[in-house]
Amino acid sequence: MGDDWARVNELLRGALSTDVKLLDDTNLAVLSHSGKMLRPMICLLLSRAMGGGNEDSLKYAAAIELLHNATLMHDDVADESPQRRGTPTVSALLGPSAAVLVGDFWLARAVEMVLDTAHYNKVVKYFSSCLTDLAQGELLQMEKASSADTQEEDYFRIISCKTATLFRVAGAAAASSVDACERLFRAAVSYATSLGLAFQIKDDILDYDGTSTLGKPTGVDLKEKKITLPLLGALKNCPDESRYRSLLLEVNSKPENISILHNFVLENGGLEYAKSRLEEHIDNAVSALDAFEDSISKSYLAYIARFNSFRQI
Ligand code: IPE
Ligand code: IPE
Ligand code: MG
Ligand code: MG
Repeated sequence: MGDDWARVNELLRGALSTDVKLLDDTNLAVLSHSGKMLRPMICLLLSRAMGGGNEDSLKYAAAIELLHNATLMHDDVADESPQRRGTPTVSALLGPSAAVLVGDFWLARAVEMVLDTAHYNKVVKYFSSCLTDLAQGELLQMEKASSADTQEEDYFRIISCKTATLFRVAGAAAASSVDACERLFRAAVSYATSLGLAFQIKDDILDYDGTSTLGKPTGVDLKEKKITLPLLGALKNCPDESRYRSLLLEVNSKPENISILHNFVLENGGLEYAKSRLEEHIDNAVSALDAFEDSISKSYLAYIARFNSFRQI
């Protein structure tokens, strides 16, 4: 993505600079272990696929990456997670209170970045509803972790709120930046939303079968009492569903339940079920791209969607 990509990185560095040394050092450390930067990538590619791409598209791309990182810092506090991107989390290094504050800083800088664009009025509304979605999604997930009664409908609400919402913002912001017509706007949002759902389903599969290439711990969802799609798939045809849900409720006092549940998922088609649902959402994402004329950006967008079938990072 050439100079555009360099500009996004420059915007990120500029937004995060501060004269408070602890914060500045932390920001630089997080930036130096950047992740896949998938959300800014789809923001730029979508704006190009809609015929444009301009300075505002780049600002939205940077703002979404800032917001994404803020949510990860907060998520790692909520999940008490020690590692991300192959390195200790901000929460592990500085403690949860500082990690929440650093996340708040990134979040606020994301909003400032959006306000400095022509379509801020529209885009800031998407940012704001994304934030309410995120908070609701993470809290619904916590509520469900203490009752172990998550149904597939709850699961999809949770992943739509905690993950797909950020992708949706990337689509809406990209379309706004190029003044896309209503039809293309809807297509961009639809692509991004389906991609977001696929992305979280894959994350939840990787929690069962991922390796150290992920750079974050695996096998943690059961420890955190999260019922995700692989477990829901295994429970589908199980005559003794309540037994497995009870096992999950007791994982704190009976850690051996984790491997029982893990094996239950592997032996009862849980991963196969989740993978088939994953493919559905990937297909939906790729179909949404039909609205765009053929271009190299469009083919990259399709590739990014398909990448979820096999990614190990
Ligand atoms: C992690 O997102 C959070 C989820 C939605 C699963 P990414 O896997 O995109 O994180 P980075 O930015 O590449 O580390
Ligand atoms: C997705 O949830 C992350 C956010 C919504 C911020 P997870 O808790 O599954 O993400 P990871 O696995 O920690 O990246
Ligand atoms: Mg987490
Ligand atoms: Mg996860």
